[in-house]
Amino acid sequence: MEKKFKRTLVTCALPYANGPVHIGHLAGAYIPGDIFVRYLRLRGEDVVFVCGSDEHGVPITIKAREQGVSPQDIVDKYHKIMKDAFAGLGINFDIYSRTTSRVHDENASEFFRKLYDEGKFITRESEQYYDVEAGTFLADRYIEGTCPKCGNPHAYGDQCEKCGSTLSPEELIDPRSRLSGGALEKRKTMHWYLPLDQYEPWLRDWILEQHKEWKSNVYGQCKSWLDGGLQPRAVSRDLDWGVPVPVEGAEGKVLYVWFDAPIGYISNTKELLPESWEKWWKSEDTRLVHFIGKDNIVFHCIVFPSMMKAYGDYVLPDNVPSNEFLNLEGDKISTSRGWAVWVDEYLRDFPGKEDVLRYVLTANAPETKDNDFTWKDFQQRNNSELVAVFGNFVNRAVVLTHKYFGGAVPQNLKPEPIDAETLASIIPCKEALEKYIETYHFREALKEAMNIARIGNKYISDAEPWKVAKTDMDRTASILYTCLQICADLAIAFEPFTPFSAEKLRGILRVALDAGMDYRAGEGRPTENFFTEGEGAALHTRRKGKMLIVPGLPLLTWNQLGESEILAPGHKLGEAELLFQKIEDDVVEAQIARLNTIKAEREAAEAAKLAEEKARTIEPQKEEIQYDDFARMDIRTATVLEAERVPKTDKLLKLTIDTGIDQRTIVSGIAEYYTPEEMVGKQICILANLAPRKIRGIESKGMILMAKQGDGKMRFITPQEALVNGAVIN
Ligand code: 2FM
Ligand code: ZN
Repeated sequence: MEKKFKRTLVTCALPYANGPVHIGHLAGAYIPGDIFVRYLRLRGEDVVFVCGSDEHGVPITIKAREQGVSPQDIVDKYHKIMKDAFAGLGINFDIYSRTTSRVHDENASEFFRKLYDEGKFITRESEQYYDVEAGTFLADRYIEGTCPKCGNPHAYGDQCEKCGSTLSPEELIDPRSRLSGGALEKRKTMHWYLPLDQYEPWLRDWILEQHKEWKSNVYGQCKSWLDGGLQPRAVSRDLDWGVPVPVEGAEGKVLYVWFDAPIGYISNTKELLPESWEKWWKSEDTRLVHFIGKDNIVFHCIVFPSMMKAYGDYVLPDNVPSNEFLNLEGDKISTSRGWAVWVDEYLRDFPGKEDVLRYVLTANAPETKDNDFTWKDFQQRNNSELVAVFGNFVNRAVVLTHKYFGGAVPQNLKPEPIDAETLASIIPCKEALEKYIETYHFREALKEAMNIARIGNKYISDAEPWKVAKTDMDRTASILYTCLQICADLAIAFEPFTPFSAEKLRGILRVALDAGMDYRAGEGRPTENFFTEGEGAALHTRRKGKMLIVPGLPLLTWNQLGESEILAPGHKLGEAELLFQKIEDDVVEAQIARLNTIKAEREAAEAAKLAEEKARTIEPQKEEIQYDDFARMDIRTATVLEAERVPKTDKLLKLTIDTGIDQRTIVSGIAEYYTPEEMVGKQICILANLAPRKIRGIESKGMILMAKQGDGKMRFITPQEALVNGAVIN
């Protein structure tokens, strides 16, 4: 039987503070988490929504070194960018803190210390790579070498980004330090390990037997980890950036980032609710839900629960909804390659269109398989779904109500069966919506919300109130009465998905939303509702800023969705306003052009890198010869007096050379690399006694010495200082 919980604690993966948030992050964890929380709040449930920046870990220290700044500078910069981006997109965490906070430092230390004191760790000594020049042990990411699987010369000690293989530093060919570039040696070091193998029987029962309802991608990954057998996992690292290991003799060691980060969920709740946090983390009545991306599954389903089990008091996740990956225009999103749509940039480029991104990322969410974001799809979904269906329906209903009924909800004067049938057809949408959200299928849930708009749009198109108004105002009243009830349905149903537009719609309808419980006030106190003044006036809940309480507005709740009368006749509407604007071709084309430039620059950089690598490849030595073989060659200095292209060839130059002995002609295949003008006046080296040959009808006497490296380009050789022509080289 399904367990009834009193409250829900929702977390979203703490993103690393080493780059801005992109659409892949949003689609993977943050938008689904926010939809879920908004839905629960609408239903009046007690919820806390926790997130924050993950500010430890090696990539942050590497980035700091690359930029010549401190790790703290890096995390300060990105923490702010990420926090603002989430807020800008309406992802309303109750707290967005950071793992460099004092509370977290203390909390993570305490967590480790308790496990340490209770003997829950084992220690192991192992040999790890040490950078002698930098005087430090190197974490896996600091080590670079050649991938044994695909030959990529820039694979890391934990992963090859080219072929995606998971690696260990020992597997790399020619490992070297990314810090100093220097060679490495192995040294002994000691670390603490959580013996995951001891938790395996418990995990098997807890996940594989008791959580068969988890999404198949999550359940499947857990099963394959468990079937593969769990190993003890190190929880400390030799690094100077992180939470110091809080025991004696641990100088130079910090908690492994994947040990401290999930504890951050607890720390951040503690920071938010210093008095009552334990209620959220240590009560059987709490439902804990972690929203994460698929690369985080093992940590949230196996490692963190084992840590919690070892600690003893904490609740375990009831579910760990995780999405697959989102690609961008057919290519994997990559921060390092710049292939992404960054949320901060989106908010700058598309002001007022926060909901369009939320809508598209939900409609196209990678829930069961990897999916693709394209700008054309973004435009199409906006124009033909949000504008043409949702926005168009609402606008027609509200504008006509103003036109015919002075902006007040008309009486239902002349109902026909189709009206009630239409309103009744929303009830199954509501039920499906609930079922899908509660089972974490947000994409399907959004379809149901959109179905309500489609129902409204079809109803108004079929009923044609603008025509009926010419002959029958009573019937027109009933049609618009029905339409406005559907508008109110939309103001409820879209709140989790497109909160800005739902709020705008509530302003247009002059209704408020019941904000549900207030987690700060203990059990069950409803939050106050506020109404902002001025343009786009709308009801705000849990928002900060200048607010005016407007008593007496009708208060919408989730349960009203699908009811036959939500807005009473006579209720005065606000001004009509367009909910969504069309997105023109040039706008998305500019975004596509930006991506094409990134791609072209990346390809050029990759080609240049490849050419550089190729240039370094050295041909093997030729077969051995005797001194006499060499001595027979008459190699001398000479100067080019004249140069011209050999007609009808691409490669040949005809050079007139002063050899010191004579002036002669040499035909040379260097036209691809040098123009005639570049050659004139140059002192070069020639093989003077090569038997004459006719090339394209020109007698060529001798050969110019050229150096050729891996890139194939030929370069002539010039003596280090100007010499007489005819100087002998040996
Ligand atoms: O993958 C990531 O971005 C990690 N920083 C997620 C950490 S989630 C949690 F454990 F904090
Ligand atoms: Zn590889």
